[in-house]
Amino acid sequence: MAKIDISGRTALVTGANRGIGKEIVRALVQGGIGKVYAAVRTPATAEVLLSEHGPDKVTVVPFDLTEERSAEHAAAKAPDTDILICNAGVLQTATVFSDNVFEALRFEIEGNLYGFIRLVRAFAPVLEKNGGGAIVQLNSIVSMKCFPDFTTYCASKAASYAVTQALKFQLAEQGTSVFSVHPGPVATDMGDAAGLSEVAQPPAQVADAVVEAFRTGEFHVWPDQMAQQIQSAYEGFAKGVVEVELSEG
Ligand SMILES: NC(=O)c1ccc[n+]([C@@H]2O[C@H](COP(=O)([O-])OP(=O)(O)OC[C@H]3O[C@@H](n4cnc5c(N)ncnc54)[C@H](OP(=O)(O)O)[C@@H]3O)[C@@H](O)[C@H]2O)c1
Repeated sequence: MAKIDISGRTALVTGANRGIGKEIVRALVQGGIGKVYAAVRTPATAEVLLSEHGPDKVTVVPFDLTEERSAEHAAAKAPDTDILICNAGVLQTATVFSDNVFEALRFEIEGNLYGFIRLVRAFAPVLEKNGGGAIVQLNSIVSMKCFPDFTTYCASKAASYAVTQALKFQLAEQGTSVFSVHPGPVATDMGDAAGLSEVAQPPAQVADAVVEAFRTGEFHVWPDQMAQQIQSAYEGFAKGVVEVELSEG
């Protein structure tokens, strides 16, 4: 477990303009972060962050998950980043039997997996140069439990969780702490699109759990009640298998 003191540090948050990302910026600022890069695909949508937190705290950086070189360009514009928060993500609702199953799967794998991998490849050297720092990946309870109505989204979040596990061990060598966040339904545009408004929890809860994870150093982050229900069944496997080194030979 590697704890992170965020005071005076510099974070880059993808998808910072709305939903969970916007709340993460708020929680980081309240937690004493020095500076936040708001990495967003339409810079004008981040103006609200500038007026809320001021230009000394927030700098807007263009970023698109689906553009091959976008993460590298963002890393060049944010060379003092020491905490990378991979929050931006996409959802479509498709089951194995939907007409759009392959289109949805490609779209979600492109955004939620390739986009994540591109970010990590661009920023890992930046974090190493700046002393190690941390990477936070927004996974989901659907990384562990597939809900048939959005099978393809679940598949993309299971895949990003697998990559997050690999990074926990690989990046420990350069002193980078990795965190895997697993919210249940959250009251954002994505939660609405999934038809989960009635059971969704406030995005601030996820953001506060991320800041709390920096304090505890716990790899798996379970922000809400539904997440904690999964945690209680999964914890033994997490601690006994996922979070420990097993021989690959
Ligand atoms: N909501 C939930 O129930 C829930 C539960 C568990 C995990 N999560 C995960 O939490 C993260 C945030 O979700 P949310 O609920 O806040 O979603 P949201 O309200 O739909 O917001 C999505 C964010 O991702 C950005 N984004 C989408 N496509 C992008 C692209 N191609 N390039 C750059 N940015 C892009 C959006 O930017 P634009 O404004 O430009 O579209 C927006 O800032 C996601 O990774 C999601 O999978 C969500």
